[in-house]
Amino acid sequence: MCGIVGYIGNEQAAPILLDGLKKLEYRGYDSAGIALLNASGDIDIVKAKGRLSVLCEMTDDGKTMNGTCGIGHTRWATHGEPSENNAHPHCNDEKTIAAVHNGIIENYAELKEKLIKRGYKFYSQTDTEVATKLVDYYYKKYGDPLRAISEFALRVRGSYALAVVNKDFPDTVFAIRKDSPMIIGVTGGAAILASDVPAILNYTKNVYYVDNLQIARLEKGAVTFYNLDREEVQKELVAITWNAEAAEKGGYEHFMLKEIHEQPKVVKDTLNYLCRDGRLDFSEVGLTDKDFKRINGIVIVGCGSAYHVGVVMQYVIEDLARVPVRVELASEFRYRNPVLNGELVVAISQSGETADTLAAIRAAKESGLKTLAIVNVVGSSIAREADFVLYTKAGPEISVATTKAYSAQLVAGYAFAVKLAKIRGKIDNNYYDKLVTELIALSEKLDCLMERKEEIQKFAAKTMDKQDVFFIGRGADYAVSVEGSLKLKEISYIHSEAYAAGELKHGTISLIEDGTLVFGVLTQKNLVEKTLSNLIETASRGALIAVIASDGVKLPVKGIDNVFRIPDVDEHFTPSLAVIPLQFFAYYLSVLRGNDVDKPRNLAKSVTVE
Ligand code: F6R
Repeated sequence: MCGIVGYIGNEQAAPILLDGLKKLEYRGYDSAGIALLNASGDIDIVKAKGRLSVLCEMTDDGKTMNGTCGIGHTRWATHGEPSENNAHPHCNDEKTIAAVHNGIIENYAELKEKLIKRGYKFYSQTDTEVATKLVDYYYKKYGDPLRAISEFALRVRGSYALAVVNKDFPDTVFAIRKDSPMIIGVTGGAAILASDVPAILNYTKNVYYVDNLQIARLEKGAVTFYNLDREEVQKELVAITWNAEAAEKGGYEHFMLKEIHEQPKVVKDTLNYLCRDGRLDFSEVGLTDKDFKRINGIVIVGCGSAYHVGVVMQYVIEDLARVPVRVELASEFRYRNPVLNGELVVAISQSGETADTLAAIRAAKESGLKTLAIVNVVGSSIAREADFVLYTKAGPEISVATTKAYSAQLVAGYAFAVKLAKIRGKIDNNYYDKLVTELIALSEKLDCLMERKEEIQKFAAKTMDKQDVFFIGRGADYAVSVEGSLKLKEISYIHSEAYAAGELKHGTISLIEDGTLVFGVLTQKNLVEKTLSNLIETASRGALIAVIASDGVKLPVKGIDNVFRIPDVDEHFTPSLAVIPLQFFAYYLSVLRGNDVDKPRNLAKSVTVE
C-alpha cells in the first residue's frame, strides 16, 4: 500500500509529482508529502495529514515549490497513526537526505535501536524514518550513494520500494525495490518513477519494471540499473498498452461507476485474448494442451474478491472438468503447511502485488508445483514469478472496490474450466461450442443489465437505513453472494453476511428480525426451490426479501416483493450477471450515505503488506 513517485528533468517537479500521486491515491490516502531539491541545492519538504488535496492546496498544486528533482508519497498507515509527523518523506537531521517508502521494514525496531546507539534521533513512529536514517548512516560511512542503498538492502528484512534524494547529487533520484512494485519511465530529458502505471502514463508508455533488489539511478533522460554489488545491469523497456484516459473518470461521478459500466468491454477483451476463431486458445498464456492434460488437481489462492472468483471457479471446474479443486485464502495457504500432490496452483490477483498471494505462489513453487497467475497488471510481481500468466484485460482499475477486474477474472476462470473440460473429454463438441458461444454472448447481456440500474437505485433509496443485510444462495449463487456482501460492507459500511442458504438454520437465522434485508440469488434452477424456502423462512420472521433471479426462473406470485431479473445464460456463468445488481446496490447505498465511494475508509487498493 502507499504510492511513491520520483521525478528528475527540466520541468518544475512538484506539479508532476502531485499529478502522479493523484493517480496513486487509491493505494493510500491518509497523508501525503513531497521532497524537492531546490535551486539553492537544499531539500524542501512539505507534508500534510489527510487527502492529497490538502497538500495540493498548501502548495497551490505544486506551483509554490521550486526544483526539478524530487520524490513524493501518498500514505496508508502501517507504523504509526496518520499524522504530519508520520507522513513521508522522512529525512536525516541535516536534511541532506530524504526518502519515501512503500512496504514494511520488518526488523525496523532492531535497526532503530542500533541507529539510536550511533546517535540518531527519531521523531516519528514509522519504519520509513529508520530506512532513511540507515541509508544516511551508510552514505556517511562510505560516501557512495549506491553503496549506501545496497548496504541498506543487505540489512533490512521486509518489503520496500524506496526512493531517495541526496543533496550531494542534486540531479539524481536513487531507488531500490524488493517485493513492492516500482516502474520507471524515461522520456525526453526526464526520468520518472512510480508505484504503478497510471502515475506515469501522461509522460511515457515505455517503462522498466524494476526487479527485486535492483538499484536504479535516475538522471535527466536516463536511468541506470545496478545489482547489489553495484555492477551495471541491462534491462528492457516494456511498452504499456493502457492509455491515459483509461485511468480518468471519463464523465462518471466515481471511478467505481465507470468501472461497473466498463464490464461488458473488459469481458469481451479478456475473451478476445483467450479465443481464436471461436475456439479457446491458451497459447498466449503459455499453456499447451499437454499442460492441460497433466492437470490432476487444482489449488486456487487469492484474497478478498479474487478469492471469491476462486469460489466460483471451484464450482465450475469441478462440475465441467471433473478435476478436484481446492480454494484457499492466500493468507492461510502460505502458513498452514498444506498437503500438496502435484496440483496446479492458480493465483488470482488484480494488482499482482498482494503480499499474501505472492507468498502463496512462492510457497507453491518451493513445493515443486507449477503455478498459473490470473492477473491484471502486466509485469507485476505475481505475473513475473508464476510459470504461466493469464492477463485479464480489465485495464487500470482505480476504485478500491473491485468490479471490472473481478468480472474479467471470472470469465478467465470460465474459459479455463471449459478448455480443461474439453481437453479431458468431459464435454462433447456440441456442448463445448454452446459454452463458448454463451461466453461470447456474456458481454451483450452485461450491456443490457447496465440499463436496469435505476431499479436498483430506487431500491437502495428505500433501504438505505438498514443496519444488516444478508445474502444467501446455493452453489454458484452462494459464490456470488459472498462477493455481493463484501462489496456492500466495504463501501457502504453496512454490516452484512453471506451464507450458503442451507446454513441459515444452523445458527444465523436467529439474527433475522423485523425489517432485516435478505437478498436471495436464484439462478441455479435445480436449487431455486430450496433457496426460496429458506427465503420464505426468513420472511416469516419479519425479513424484507429481495431476489436476483434469472429471467427463466419461476417465482411464487406472493411473498417476494423485490425482484431484479438478469438475462438467462448457461448456469455455470450466472455469477457474471448476478453480480451486477449487487455491485450497483453497494454503489448506490454508498453514495446515498455520503461515503467516499472510490476510497472507502481504512482500505487501500493494493495490499502489499500482510
Ligand atoms: C474488494 C477488493 C479486495 C481485493 C483483494 C485482492 O473489492 O478489491 O478484496 O480483491 O485485496 O487484491 P488483488 O486482486 O489485487 O490481489
